[in-house]
Amino acid sequence: MRRSPQALAAAVDDPGYPARYGTDPDVSRKALEAALDDATDRVGDNLDTFYDRFPEPASDDLVYGATSNADGWTTSFWTGLCWLAGEVTGQRRFHDAASAQVGTFRRRLETGETDTHDLGFLYSLSTVADRRLTGREPSRVAAVRAADLLADRFHPAPGLIQAWGSTDDPEAWEHGRMIVDTMMNLPLLFWASEATGDPRYADIAGTHARTNAAHVVRPDGSTFHTFACDAETGEPLGGETHQGCADDSCWARGQAWAIYGYALAADYAGEPAYADLAAKLANYYLSHVADDHVPRWDFDAPADDTVRDSSAAAIAACGFAHLARVLPAADERAGEYRNAALATLGSLTDDYRAGSDSNGLLTDGAYNRPKGNYDECTIWGDYFYTEGLVRATRAAWEPYW
Ligand code: GLY
Repeated sequence: MRRSPQALAAAVDDPGYPARYGTDPDVSRKALEAALDDATDRVGDNLDTFYDRFPEPASDDLVYGATSNADGWTTSFWTGLCWLAGEVTGQRRFHDAASAQVGTFRRRLETGETDTHDLGFLYSLSTVADRRLTGREPSRVAAVRAADLLADRFHPAPGLIQAWGSTDDPEAWEHGRMIVDTMMNLPLLFWASEATGDPRYADIAGTHARTNAAHVVRPDGSTFHTFACDAETGEPLGGETHQGCADDSCWARGQAWAIYGYALAADYAGEPAYADLAAKLANYYLSHVADDHVPRWDFDAPADDTVRDSSAAAIAACGFAHLARVLPAADERAGEYRNAALATLGSLTDDYRAGSDSNGLLTDGAYNRPKGNYDECTIWGDYFYTEGLVRATRAAWEPYW
């Protein structure tokens, strides 16, 4: 018998909203507007290089190389940046670039890598965004096809979407393994139910969200990076890390994916328990974040490891902002999470922006600290930073997710 969202949220402790976020942060709207202008200028400067190619996931010495759209999970963040820049500036060139890139996502469904849960990241910011902004039918068809492929990764016995690898090989390490990141891939499924009228996609997303709450979210409000179940019997096997410092640690970016993912699930499903869970996850994050509101890459990293992950902060800022939006206006937590979003964006703007020798936006992204990939720009960090700035300066903006 699967537990309800309410029971699952109630089973998680609330570390409480830290007092230091209780007052309005000292962040000026003018500074955020100026930062957004700088961000769209830099996207414009890169438009010829990355017109229908894509920045690598992370920079090298703060400069992105170019890659194709055959594989990987990050190409759509560049397309998302182009859509954002187009909306903010009204300039056609951004819209044209994003539209050209969308064609490569349609082709990828025929010839490229699709055996991954990352279809949500890839197709929400490309084809779903295109459908939302332009109404184009081929993008709706491609996004539904991507949602079908994502739904095919669902294992009914444990009630989870397998993150990585083929679903056919029961001996593989990935078989029956869910990861916290998948919470941000669920919007594609929720959207597909709205687009087609078929509730199956949203049912799968809701089931995965509940299984994630049961196993990936720990009772103290922290999260595992990955958790495996027996795909045939559903038996929970245990949590392991992949990019964090230990199996029982809390990888900061994973926590951020969960905060934003549950805030979006609350919105799509109209389920207040997901918002309550997102708030508890946010309170854990805010109780452990560094003094400047940007987390170390893992909340349980050794004390002398001060490496940050600015991308986790950018994702979390969007999560806080969306949480503020889905909580009822009369709920005092809405104002608190708005403060947390602004404090985070203010710190990123003041202290983490890449200089003019870079073609990225944010320094100090940690793609994979254990593998030595950190202190660089990351294309998803750049996307979520810009989305956060848009959210902070344009209240009417409608998310692509
Ligand atoms: N979704 C992969 C990562 O966050 O690194």
